[in-house]
Amino acid sequence: MSVVRAIVVPDAQIPFHCYPSMRAMMGYLRDTKVDWLINIGDWEDNRELSRFVGKKLKTAFAEDNLLASSQLAGDLWAEFVDAANASHRVFLEGNHESRAWHFSETHPGFAELLDPKRRLRLDETNTLYVPADSEGSVFRLEWKDGKIAGRSYAKSERIETLHGFGFIHGWYHNKYHSQQTVARFGHGSIGSGHTHDMQRMQIERFGPDSPEGITFGSLCAYEQPYIKSPTRWQKGFGELLFDPKNPGLYEVNQIRIVDGRFIGPNGKVYDGQWRRKKRSSRSSKTTR
Ligand SMILES: [Fe+2]
Ligand SMILES: [Fe+2]
Repeated sequence: MSVVRAIVVPDAQIPFHCYPSMRAMMGYLRDTKVDWLINIGDWEDNRELSRFVGKKLKTAFAEDNLLASSQLAGDLWAEFVDAANASHRVFLEGNHESRAWHFSETHPGFAELLDPKRRLRLDETNTLYVPADSEGSVFRLEWKDGKIAGRSYAKSERIETLHGFGFIHGWYHNKYHSQQTVARFGHGSIGSGHTHDMQRMQIERFGPDSPEGITFGSLCAYEQPYIKSPTRWQKGFGELLFDPKNPGLYEVNQIRIVDGRFIGPNGKVYDGQWRRKKRSSRSSKTTR
């Protein structure tokens, strides 16, 4: 049996996403056999629902904006699902998705309208929704009976000492967040989003391997109105390979996207920039 591949789709903050980066990534997905497509949350920005945004903006205009960006977010997720053609699809709720729940607590009439599963049409793409932010759930890929199986754990559940790799949206945002995350998790390696950077840090443990915390960059534009100073943000995504026959054996690729381009693990350059085709010098002369 060949290795099992999981692709991690990090924060896109739609409608503030970087479409050239997404388009390049989808090119790679079309060329690659994908078993698990894991969206790690903050797929949407939902700025209209932020507690930092004044009540004045929560108007019919904001509602229209929200519906339009939800439509776009659902369409883009469907595009990714189509490009990857993966056997399994998972969506971890980020803090920007759970803004919807916070808003509907004080505006109960909006609860159904704001439900992320409904707005992103996750049933249509047969995508498992994991309430990672609002309920603290963890998704985990585990080695079990010579196979890789996925399981979502509620915060109160006990994780048995199976070999596995966990996924959350993100608990910390400090300089050493990935190390803090893996130390706090306590059940092996773990991947997360939320910070929009790429880190890979380990913690000490007795035994043949050391658990690590990993982040996979983001698919959102750098030009966010609330960002005033340089950041560690890095566009990119993650690829994880698991050997089902060897518990604990995995490899990670943190794939950096620069100006809508990246070098795939297969050695091919993927370019998501749209460019007008250059005219030949002869035809440009004749049009003058
Ligand atoms: Fe986040
Ligand atoms: Fe984010």
